[in-house]
Amino acid sequence: MEAVILAAGKSTRMKSKTSKIFHNICGKPMIFYVVEALRRYKIHIVSNTQTNDTLKELFPQATIHIQKEQKGTADAVACAIDYIKEDTFIVVNADMPLIDPNDIESAYGILKSRGLDCVLLTAELDDPKGYGRIIRDNGCIRIIEEKNADENTRKIKEINSGIYIFKTESVKEALPKIERDAVSNEYYLTDIIPLLKGVEAVRVNPQHILGVNTRKQLSEVRNIMQRRIIDKFDDVTFIDSENTYINYDVEIGEDTVIYPNVHLRGKTTIGRNCIIENGSVIENSVIKDNVHIKPYCVIEESTIKNNCEIGPFAHLRPHSELSENVRIGNFVETKKVRIGRNTKASHLTYLGDATLGSDVNVGCGTITCNYDGYRKNETIIGDRVFIGSDVQLVAPVRIGNDVLIAAGTTVTKDVEDFSLAISRVPQVNKEGWVKKYRQSMEKKLKEEKKAK
Ligand code: UD1
Ligand code: CA
Repeated sequence: MEAVILAAGKSTRMKSKTSKIFHNICGKPMIFYVVEALRRYKIHIVSNTQTNDTLKELFPQATIHIQKEQKGTADAVACAIDYIKEDTFIVVNADMPLIDPNDIESAYGILKSRGLDCVLLTAELDDPKGYGRIIRDNGCIRIIEEKNADENTRKIKEINSGIYIFKTESVKEALPKIERDAVSNEYYLTDIIPLLKGVEAVRVNPQHILGVNTRKQLSEVRNIMQRRIIDKFDDVTFIDSENTYINYDVEIGEDTVIYPNVHLRGKTTIGRNCIIENGSVIENSVIKDNVHIKPYCVIEESTIKNNCEIGPFAHLRPHSELSENVRIGNFVETKKVRIGRNTKASHLTYLGDATLGSDVNVGCGTITCNYDGYRKNETIIGDRVFIGSDVQLVAPVRIGNDVLIAAGTTVTKDVEDFSLAISRVPQVNKEGWVKKYRQSMEKKLKEEKKAK
């Protein structure tokens, strides 16, 4: 079989500058799921002139046919029909991402075994609004679009899914006979049904065929897709699966626990036995085993090895690479940094364009001053370095192994192994100074008052 995906529509009801087929569902454009469900077949996509380039980029395996003017679904099929070589083909609307390949397989079985022209997938919906209604009339089947339906027809709950298996030859013959609909001025593919011999309408699970025409439907379909993705992780604990956002490409290891409002985006991999707490957003990152991410961390394009502890409120920006057993505490920001084993930066710190060795202790309020207004400069720190609180490392700068940097130091020169670096104004204590100061101030104020 070959498959034709109809994707050239104008998406008017979506009220968006972006074509609805590119609207995001769990990290992928809606049409991705349709292409994925049909990946066993040779795929044709009917596109309009605006979406054409993006579709080619997204699906290099598909053949794109352009429908210049949106004259309806029958006209869209007509744009691809001459390129169909197999004797049966599938037509699917691009706006039904919940489509199930098994439904298509069984429909194909029915078409073949009974020598039919068409098997049409239908479903019973409690709210059939917006869909074409199925009329079963003594074995004859017709589809009436909502726009063309009278009050009684609108009450029919069996709807056209927009998935059809066709005998190619019969469609080639019947397609040119379809007339423009008087109400919408479009050529309806649904009008092909009475022109074919042997049509069977097969009911499938309504959840598989929900179409996305509006933002409301987009949100409903997203929720169902999210449920499907989460249900696949049968060895992962989701504390509140209704409020967890996991993208299609995400992998999660056994016995990991995901708390509410966590977002795992892009190509993110989480290892085994991890805990990802509330509100953390992790994008395109690799997290190994036994990692604990505390609440409200943002992690982008980073790698975290086993047994690390991050957050709460930590921000790991792109290219943060953490070795085993690293601790990144609250209000710590990292960017383009390599951090060795057992190193800790527990509070209020910025580490950017830096390499830190293992067993380093970064004190509270440490800052790598990496930017000079023109360039990003590097800080290199050896192993077993102790950095006191409130230290500025003015890059480029290199700190050897086993160095101690005193609290409050501004490091502007490289430091040798086993050295103490300290840059402080010596402290002076002036005894009784406060008493004298207060007396002089009070005297001044009295004199000023008198003068007024
Ligand atoms: C269509 C069906 C309706 C069915 C519903 C299922 C028709 C006439 N109606 O209605 O019976 O219940 O799907 O979801 O087919 N498209 C083109 N070129 C065009 C017009 C549309 O490629 O000129 C594409 C759209 O991008 C879309 C698909 O065809 O992917 C269906 O079009 P849409 O406007 O969404 O049709 P519905 O009104 O939903
Ligand atoms: Ca539709």
